[in-house]
Amino acid sequence: MSANFSFQSLAECSQTKARAGIFHTPHGPVETPRFMPVGTLANVKTVTPDQLKSTGAQMVLSNTYHLHLQPGERIVAGGGGLHKFMGWDGPMLTDSGGFQVFSLSEMRKITEDGVTFRSPHDGQIIHLTPERSIEIQNTLGADVIMAFDECPPYPASREDVEAATQRTYRWLERCMTFHQRSDQALFGIVQGGVYLDLRAQAAQELAKLDLPGYAIGGVSVGEPPELMADIVRTTAPLLPREKPRYLMGVGTYREMAIAIASGVDLFDCVIPTRWARHGTAIVQGERWNLKNAKFREDYAPLDETCPCYACQNFSRAYISHLVRSQEILGYTLLSIHNITELIRFTQKIREAILSDRFATEFAHWLN
Ligand code: GUN
Ligand code: ZN
Repeated sequence: MSANFSFQSLAECSQTKARAGIFHTPHGPVETPRFMPVGTLANVKTVTPDQLKSTGAQMVLSNTYHLHLQPGERIVAGGGGLHKFMGWDGPMLTDSGGFQVFSLSEMRKITEDGVTFRSPHDGQIIHLTPERSIEIQNTLGADVIMAFDECPPYPASREDVEAATQRTYRWLERCMTFHQRSDQALFGIVQGGVYLDLRAQAAQELAKLDLPGYAIGGVSVGEPPELMADIVRTTAPLLPREKPRYLMGVGTYREMAIAIASGVDLFDCVIPTRWARHGTAIVQGERWNLKNAKFREDYAPLDETCPCYACQNFSRAYISHLVRSQEILGYTLLSIHNITELIRFTQKIREAILSDRFATEFAHWLN
């Protein structure tokens, strides 16, 4: 592993594959397992970096696809790189862009060389390749950068998924050849759809490459939850135990608990901030719509047990009033709360693993 990165396992669960560890990066440690909030356009929507820090966030995500289109990586580099530009001095990760092209762009065309698509901003034709993605991510300067991959849709035929998985491997080799910055860790991504043998094969092949970290991609794309659990249970244990493992795009309690039990360390998901902007709070794993009439005169905090700024200072009635009035502060308070809630869930699991209480205390989330 490059000199600036290391993963240290502190404890392992005696009944599952869960582990508690520390992922060291040039911008500080990430205590795992941990949820990472998403800051797509170099900000976590409606939340300042100080507020974000108060949620317990350690590593924050951003996106190559979005930042390349707007404002462009040159502007970010001109501002001193991603950390300085957005005022976040903690660890950062950028996704490679391929996945976002598939989910967000029209008129995309995929070849062995890369992906061509039309910019939703100005209609300009853009070509992204493994090399271009790495170049952009090198320019942005996050601590962890992701390989450029092809995430097949669900459902997709075995043939199509096999082709995408093999292409993802060839693209990873191109990413590794092109990537030069030793202060950035390149993570490989396991694809393979719902075909467990393809997943296993991809994981074993990636494991041989001795990358500083590994991700499981291509989940949460519409497959039934039992299949996602099977994919994670099959894939995670085949990835090197001395490296961090990251399950991409997953952030519900049950999915995270199951993945942690399989040995996954890191998660990200837009749910806490997206739901916040719809007036929805996550409370003990449940969804609450704050526009509901029952909250209008409810003067209790969102969650009595939550240490977040929103719960310590404001009532459900106040936040309900704000979101009904479409006041931005309402979205800010809900985002702070929701992010805190998910990070706290992974922190509680971490503490449980450290004292080997995970399998018993979280049993109800594991089946
Ligand atoms: N985010 C969620 N899933 C994926 C995936 O499969 N690949 C990439 N690059 N990003 C993702
Ligand atoms: Zn709260």
